[in-house]
Amino acid sequence: QKPSILVTGGAGYIGSHTVLALKQAGYDVVILDNLVYGHRELVEQVLQVELVVGDTNDRPLLDELFKTHNFAAVMHFSAYAYVGESVTDPAKYYRNNVVGTLTLLEAMLAASINKFVFSSTCATYGVPEVVPIPETHPQDPINPYGATKLMVERILSDFDVAYNLKSVRFRYFNAAGANPDGLLGEDHNPETHLIPLILLTALGKRESISIFGTDYPTPDGTCIRDYIHVNDLADAHVLGLEYLLQGGDSEVFNLGNGNGFSVREVIAAAESVTGLSIPVKECDRRPGDPPVLIGSSEKARKILGWRSQYPAIQDIVSHAWQWHQKRHK
Ligand code: UFG
Repeated sequence: QKPSILVTGGAGYIGSHTVLALKQAGYDVVILDNLVYGHRELVEQVLQVELVVGDTNDRPLLDELFKTHNFAAVMHFSAYAYVGESVTDPAKYYRNNVVGTLTLLEAMLAASINKFVFSSTCATYGVPEVVPIPETHPQDPINPYGATKLMVERILSDFDVAYNLKSVRFRYFNAAGANPDGLLGEDHNPETHLIPLILLTALGKRESISIFGTDYPTPDGTCIRDYIHVNDLADAHVLGLEYLLQGGDSEVFNLGNGNGFSVREVIAAAESVTGLSIPVKECDRRPGDPPVLIGSSEKARKILGWRSQYPAIQDIVSHAWQWHQKRHK
């Protein structure tokens, strides 16, 4: 019998894919999600695990949850993640992403749970000095969203020293794609991410896809990102959890493919996958976008034995396309 795991944000995009991977690996999972962005029907119809609707800022709820369950670890996905909104409404981000996480960690410590898997981001690096970015690269975020994730990383280091809280921190590059069997996918509202917006354009739900900046110092002038399949992220989380359950020390890992694709290359991949021509509109740069973000995941390969199953952009886009066609039928 494998232990019980609490997954916060398990009704969201990366969280839901990880819950499915945990279930398939034989873990007993409970989701805590405030359903501000998460999807109840996904949990009820697809994941079929216990859903506690609530907030990480609700300490009495957390205490009750930890009293009535026997969790071996907590995996923490719940956070607000719109970079633009974090600039215009930083209070919302610091309150939820930092204070909410602190409350969760304090409740865990009070309940003697000391294993924590945390969703961090390449946005903590800011504008990189070298690519592929190693985990040792200086962290200097250029927006409040990245700052909130970096603050939690710092809290986790200090809590390890002081309270023996063991954590795995994953710094994701650009999460994309969908469950290859079509069970789950990306469903943000509002949607701001490149691949879903391209596919919504292909479906005729939007007029065109805007290319934010065509004068970057890259071969075709558009931004380059390291897209990582959400199922590969989910697999890494199961490995990270098992690493901690086996007594592993606190660690930080990048999760990317070490490979970058430009905005134009992603649009071309989507045209080839869908067989449709996708109208584009060339626009000004979006503030806060670094020209190139590519991560080195050598460390996750070496220490966790993680391997990316779907590194090809065609596979990532094609799984996302399957999901969007089904979702918008
Ligand atoms: N882009 C467009 N048009 C669009 C949307 C995006 O050209 O309509 C471009 C962006 O400028 C960027 C690339 O496509 O160059 C990818 O953009 P996304 O919004 O899909 O992803 P980001 O790289 O901005 O964001 C991701 C994560 C964030 C994280 C960030 C780190 O979603 O959570 O990486 O920079 F903070």
